[in-house]
Amino acid sequence: ADQSFDVVFIGGGPGGYVGAVRAAQLGFKTACIDKRGAFGGTCLNVGCIPSKAMLKSSELYHHAQHGLEDHGFTLGGVKLDLAKMLARKDKVVTDVTKGIEFLFKKNKVAGIVGAAKLTGPNTIEVTLNAGGTQTIEAKHIIIATGSDVTGLPGVEIDEKTVVSSTGALTLEKVPGKLIVIGGGVIGLELGSVWQRLGAQVTVVEFLDKITPTMDGEISKQLQRILTKQGMDFKLATKVTKIDKTKKGATVTVEPAAGGAAETLEADVVLVSIGRKPYTDGLGLDTVGVERDAKGRVKVDKHFRSNVPSVYAIGDVIDGPMLAHKAEEEGVAIAEILAGQHGHVNYDVIPSVIYTAPEVASVGKTEEELKAAGIAYKIGKVPFSINARARANGDSEGFVKILTDDKDKILGGHIIHAEAGTLIAELTLAMEFGASGEDVARTCHAHPTVSEVIKEAGLAANGRTINM
Ligand code: FAD
Ligand code: NAI
Repeated sequence: ADQSFDVVFIGGGPGGYVGAVRAAQLGFKTACIDKRGAFGGTCLNVGCIPSKAMLKSSELYHHAQHGLEDHGFTLGGVKLDLAKMLARKDKVVTDVTKGIEFLFKKNKVAGIVGAAKLTGPNTIEVTLNAGGTQTIEAKHIIIATGSDVTGLPGVEIDEKTVVSSTGALTLEKVPGKLIVIGGGVIGLELGSVWQRLGAQVTVVEFLDKITPTMDGEISKQLQRILTKQGMDFKLATKVTKIDKTKKGATVTVEPAAGGAAETLEADVVLVSIGRKPYTDGLGLDTVGVERDAKGRVKVDKHFRSNVPSVYAIGDVIDGPMLAHKAEEEGVAIAEILAGQHGHVNYDVIPSVIYTAPEVASVGKTEEELKAAGIAYKIGKVPFSINARARANGDSEGFVKILTDDKDKILGGHIIHAEAGTLIAELTLAMEFGASGEDVARTCHAHPTVSEVIKEAGLAANGRTINM
C-alpha cells in the first residue's frame, strides 16, 4: 500500500470529518477521504449551511419589504440582486469548508481528495481527483458516505427546471411559480426561501399533513402560518407525471386515494421527497458488507458492520438524517475504537425546521406517547404571554412540554422565531433526566423568550404565573 493508517473515514461530512478529528485527538493515525473536492459533505456544501444562508438573506429581504412599518419606518424601493445573494452564500460555504482543512491540519488528520473503493476488509483504493490512484491500508475503515436525493420514478432531475435541493440553492432567477413535491423539511425551508423572494409556491404532499413526523399540533400550526404567508398546500395528493414544457413544466397530480387528475403549471419543480443512503461505487459487495432493505449499511450498537474491520455512521445508517446525529456518531465511533465508552442517546436528538417561525422538537411527540400507551401531562404556553416576545414582534407560537406521571420530561416541542436555539434547553434538560419542575425552578433571565419554557414547566405541573 502507498500509505497506511489506523483509522480511515470514507466521507468528509459532519460524520466523517468530526469523527476523524476526534480519532486523531485520541492518538490514531487518521485519514479522511472525500471525492467532492471540498470537505464538509452534503451539510456544509449543499445542505445545512447554504440553505441557512439563503433563509437568512431571504428573510432580511422580506423584512425590508414588509416587516418594518410596525416599527415606524418604511424602506422604499428595496431591490433584489439575486446573483449577489447567491455569491454571499457561496462565500459562506467556502469559508466553512476551508475551516475543516484548518481543523485537519491542526489535528494532523490526512485529508485525501478522491473517490474511495473498498478492495478488501483492510484495503481501500482511491481514485484521486488530481489524477492517478492510491492504495491505502487501514486497521479500521469507517463508512460515512452520507445520502443522496430520492428521485421520482420516471422523472429526470436536470437541476434547472426539475431540481433537487442542490439545484434549488443555485436558481439564477426567481421562478414565477415553484411547485414543491414533498412537504417535509427541505420543501418547506427552500419553498420559504423562494416564496420570500417572490415565487408563488405550491407544496404537493402525499400524506394528509406536512412534516408528518412532527408533533401534530405543531405541524397544523406551521401549515396555518405558512398558508398565511401565501404558500399553497395540496395535501393527500400524488404526482403522477411531470412533463417539461418550453417555459417550465406541467405537473399532473391526483388525490392520493384516487380520483380526477389535475394539471399544475410551474417554472421550476423542486423534488424533495426524502433522501436515500449513498454507497455507489464503494465496493461494499466486493467485501461482503451487508445492507438492509433500504440500502443502509447494517451496523450493531457499536457501529460495526458484519465485516469486523468496517464500521458505518451518519446518513448511511439507520436513524434521523441529521448533521448533529452524524457528528455524535463520529465522536462515538472514535471513542469506541480507543476503548472508551462512546455512546449516542437516540432518545434525545433535537430536530429543527428553519422556516419563519422555526419549529423544533426533541424526544417524544404526543402521537408517539398515545401510540405507546404512555400516560402524559402537557405544559403548553403561548409566546403571546411573554413581554420580550411582544417587544420583539415575535409572539407567534408556543412551547409544549410533555411529562410522564413522575413529571419527567419525555418531549419538548416549540414553534417560534427562535425555536431552534431554544430547544437546546429542553434537550439538555432531557439529557439530565430533568422534570418539568426542575425547568420551572430554574431561574431564567428576564426579559427573554426562554421564560416561556420555564412557564411551560410550571404548566406541566398544573400551575402558571403569567397566564
Ligand atoms: P454527508 O454530509 O452526506 O457526507 C458524505 C460525504 O461522503 C460527501 O461529501 C460525499 O461526497 C462523500 N462520499 C460519498 N461516497 C464517497 C466515496 N466513495 N469516496 C469518497 N467520498 C465519498 N441536517 C441538519 O442537521 N440540519 C440542517 O439544517 C440540515 N439542512 C439540510 C439541508 C439540505 C438542503 C440537505 C440536503 C440536507 C440537510 N441536512 C441538515 C442533512 C445533513 O446534511 C445530513 O444529515 C448530513 O450531511 C449527514 O452527514 P454525513 O457525514 O453522514 O454525510
Ligand atoms: P422529508 O422526509 O423531510 O420529507 C419528505 C416529504 O415528502 C414527506 O412529507 C413525505 O410524506 C413526502 N413524500 C414522499 N413521497 C412523496 C411523493 N411521491 N409525493 C409527494 N410527497 C411525497 O425529506 P426531505 O424534505 O427531502 O429532506 C430529506 C432529509 O434531509 C430530511 O429527512 C432531513 O433528515 C434532512 N434535512 C434536514 C434539515 C434540517 O434539519 N433543518 C433541512 C433539510 C433536510
